[in-house]
Order: sequence, then structure tokens, then C-alpha cells
Amino acid sequence: MADFRQLVGKRVIMTGGAGNIGRASAILMAQHGATVAIGDLDIDGANETVEMIKADGGSALAVRTDVSNEDDIAAFVAAAVDFMGGIDVGFFNAGIQMSGAVEGFDADRWDRMFAVNPRHSFLMAKHTVPHLRNAGGGALVLTSSIAGVKGGPGMTAYSASKGAIVGFGRALSAELAPDNIRVNVLCPGWVDTPFNQPAIDFMGGSEAQAEVVKSIVPLGRQAAPEEMAEVVVFLASGMSSYMTNQIIIADGGIF
Ligand SMILES: NC(=O)c1ccc[n+]([C@@H]2O[C@H](COP(=O)([O-])OP(=O)(O)OC[C@H]3O[C@@H](n4cnc5c(N)ncnc54)[C@H](O)[C@@H]3O)[C@@H](O)[C@H]2O)c1
Repeated sequence: MADFRQLVGKRVIMTGGAGNIGRASAILMAQHGATVAIGDLDIDGANETVEMIKADGGSALAVRTDVSNEDDIAAFVAAAVDFMGGIDVGFFNAGIQMSGAVEGFDADRWDRMFAVNPRHSFLMAKHTVPHLRNAGGGALVLTSSIAGVKGGPGMTAYSASKGAIVGFGRALSAELAPDNIRVNVLCPGWVDTPFNQPAIDFMGGSEAQAEVVKSIVPLGRQAAPEEMAEVVVFLASGMSSYMTNQIIIADGGIF
């Protein structure tokens, strides 16, 4: 019988695996045969994801990690390598969102968003790339957002932080291609998770958001986290072996 699993024997390190897109992706990658190491500030949530993977017959590890702290990242990468014996895939997905009009936006909140969103992508790459090189190559998937390529009111800081991930990922892909390491950037559109509450509040509540989704998303609905997980497996696996330096927009047709 043919085996259609795409990540058999692959060792995945990822951030944000306690959250919605992260958990769905961790579970699907494990179902495709990967071992998964999850770094998240929410260690209870990350442990829950690990238990779900184990209940499914998979193998996973959770490490409490504040991704804005380089020491935490170094310790997480070391623990992941200890657990898995190396790294083939990185999925840098942790993120935070804050909304607000530019004239009232506090500079500390801007700095915090940058410390988590793009700076963590950089730090995770810095600490994992040597292991991908040791493995003879691999794949990195960076979670940006449609907000990183298309702006919206109240989203200046979040959009800037996610746009920085696009720029970082594209330069990184050029730097790592000679080492057979592919780098692609995933830009989800509206995904139905509590993550968007700041944007929803800025828009005037969930009814206003539902109207916007209906009017601007050609598919007429938000995505489920599991629909992003499918794209993550594609980008992490050999199914996308000739793709690097790409911005993959999964937004129901907005862009
Ligand atoms: N939900 C959407 O509509 C949407 C759209 C576009 C992009 N995204 C991006 O997708 C990613 C996941 O979003 P989600 O909807 O699953 O959100 P989520 O809030 O469910 O998950 C985010 C995860 O990041 C973790 N995290 C936050 N700060 C951290 C820190 N300092 N250290 C370690 N972990 C930290 C959280 O604990 C959580 O597990 C984010 O990068 C987000 O920007 C989401």
C-alpha cells in the first residue's frame, strides 16, 4: 500500500503550537509522520497539543519559551535537538496582534509586537539554521499575514511587523538556497480564531467583521485553522521541493 504521508522521519521545530493555527499544524505534521518540538509561552496549551499528538500515536515535545527572549530560544532549540536528534523543518508561527489608530498608538506596544513577530523569526532562524545545514538541507515556513502585504485601518503596527517577516524571509531564502534550505512565507487571511479580537474590536465588533468578511473575501467566509495546516504541510514537505522565496497567500481570494 502506498504511504501518502509527507513528513515521515522529519524533525520539526515550531513556535506557537499552543494556538489555533499552530496546534492544527502540529497535529497534521505529526499525522504526516513528523516528530514535533513546540516552543510556546503557553506551556499548558503546548502540553495539550503534545498530548493530542501522542494520543494519535505521534511523538512531540513542549518547551516553555518566550520567543522574545534569545536565551529562551537557545534553550528551546537545544532541548529540541536533544529530543529529536536534529532539525529538518522550522515553522516560526508564534505571533501577537494589537490594533489602534496611529496617532494614539503607544511606542512600547509597537516595540512589543516587533519583539515577538519578526524578531522571533530572526532568532529562530539564527539558532536553527546550523542544524538544518547539518541535516543537509530542509525547509523553513514563516507565518506572516495578509496584513504583511496589504494594509487595513488600525493595523499599521501589526502590518509593519508582519511585512518585516516577508522581507526577512525573502532575504533569508536567497542566503540559504545554496545550502538546500528552502524558505517560504505563509500569509493567512481571516482565520476564525480569537487572535483577531483586537482587529474585530477596532472594526466595531463581530457583526461588523462578519460584514467585512462577506464583502471582501470572494469565498465569503473565514478559514478554519486546519486549512492553514494543509498549506504548512505542503511548504514543509517535499511536495514543494522546487519552491523557495515565495509568499503564499491563503486568504479566500482577497488578494
Ligand atoms: N488568525 C488569523 O486570522 C491570522 C491571520 C494571519 C496571520 N495569522 C498569524 O498566524 C499565527 C498564529 O495565529 P493564531 O490565529 O493561531 O493565533 P493564536 O493566538 O491562537 O496563537 C498564537 C500563539 O503564539 C503564542 N505566543 C504569543 N506570544 C508568544 C511569546 N512571546 N512567546 C512564545 N509564544 C508566544 C501564543 O501563546 C499562541 O500559542 C500568528 O503569527 C498570526 O500573526 C493569524
